[in-house]
Amino acid sequence: MKQTSNTKSLNIGLFGLGVVGSGLVEILEKNEHPGLHLSKICVKDPLKKRSVAQDKLTFDAADILNDPSINVVIETINGSDDAFGIVSEALRRGKAVISANKKMVAGHFAELLSIQDETGMPLLYEGAACGGIPIVRTLEEHFGSEPLESVSGIFNGTSNYILSNMFRNGSTLDAALLDAQRLGFAELDPSSDIGGDDAKYKLILLAAHSLGIMARPESVLSLGIHHLRKADIAYARSLDCKIKLTPVSRRVGEHKLVLYVLPSLVHEEHFLYHVENEYNGVEIQGTYSGLQHLKGRGAGSLPTGSALLADLNALRHGYRYQYRKKRLNGQSILEQNHELNLYIRAPKYIRLDELGVKNAQVIDETEETYAVTGIGILSHLLDKKQWFEDHKIFIMQIS
Ligand code: HSE
Repeated sequence: MKQTSNTKSLNIGLFGLGVVGSGLVEILEKNEHPGLHLSKICVKDPLKKRSVAQDKLTFDAADILNDPSINVVIETINGSDDAFGIVSEALRRGKAVISANKKMVAGHFAELLSIQDETGMPLLYEGAACGGIPIVRTLEEHFGSEPLESVSGIFNGTSNYILSNMFRNGSTLDAALLDAQRLGFAELDPSSDIGGDDAKYKLILLAAHSLGIMARPESVLSLGIHHLRKADIAYARSLDCKIKLTPVSRRVGEHKLVLYVLPSLVHEEHFLYHVENEYNGVEIQGTYSGLQHLKGRGAGSLPTGSALLADLNALRHGYRYQYRKKRLNGQSILEQNHELNLYIRAPKYIRLDELGVKNAQVIDETEETYAVTGIGILSHLLDKKQWFEDHKIFIMQIS
């Protein structure tokens, strides 16, 4: 392979050939990609039929990790513990790594940063957040020195696809989820999509590059759309709004940040109202640049494969994340006493005072449920999350 003085040739070992891995393989096979060579693909199931050349396949991770000619590992597997094992081992063996595994990166952020410092090897993960939207590098490089006030939006394609179909066609959540699974948008365990955790992991990644905090997943509230009822859709419609699952990271004081994922009421004048199906939208509020919007396909084989391809090309030029915001704003902490305006729908057997909201006003009733608006505190929502889940209580943010 030819190599110019400032670009490297990459010999790639790929882990996983699911939706994301096969998207990258398709992209690499479609066009010439000078300097990129896919050497081996490690998969789990030897019995599964696959459309790649048999001699590229291996079932043993060591065939990639022990091969000194492979200088880049791309990790696109499902389990986050196995993924961390592969990624950390590859970095320690002097290989650059690209991962699409948001749960793994968000769950091991600090360790991954110190392994990168220790080994001098880079880890990139553009494909782990918002699919084909070039957001990690935009935050890291373009906004690397501008202080940002907030980064929020829609970061989960599956839940957005479901909500779009529920609002547009009156589809049920289960039917729309089946479609999203068939189209390759959903996680193997889709409770992470509809329950808000997938969006939370992406929020944690983006908050590190935009606001300089590496939040632990257990410290960030995520409530999903799985307890949404027809009455909630009717309420949103009556206000010319839609409901979207929105991760939010925002500066609320000097060195104080809030991070959470909640369904939100979004008015038709808002950018996110028009982000539909598997599309994601990112809203960046810069101190000097003002409000910026990015929109693109947040899930799916080729959009995510395109982000992996972009990372490969970045590696060819010796790119690595500097974690500029973390180095600038490293002392920022999470403010959990933050108040939120909420809409809550609960079964009638739940007493109003059990919900723990201030200024509670009942605004709607059905045979089995009632809805209130009021003010909730982030720490209380975090503490009672399991109780809300157990009682199928739907909570959304209203402005
Ligand atoms: N399940 C994820 C989503 C895939 O629906 O957004 C892309 O990360």
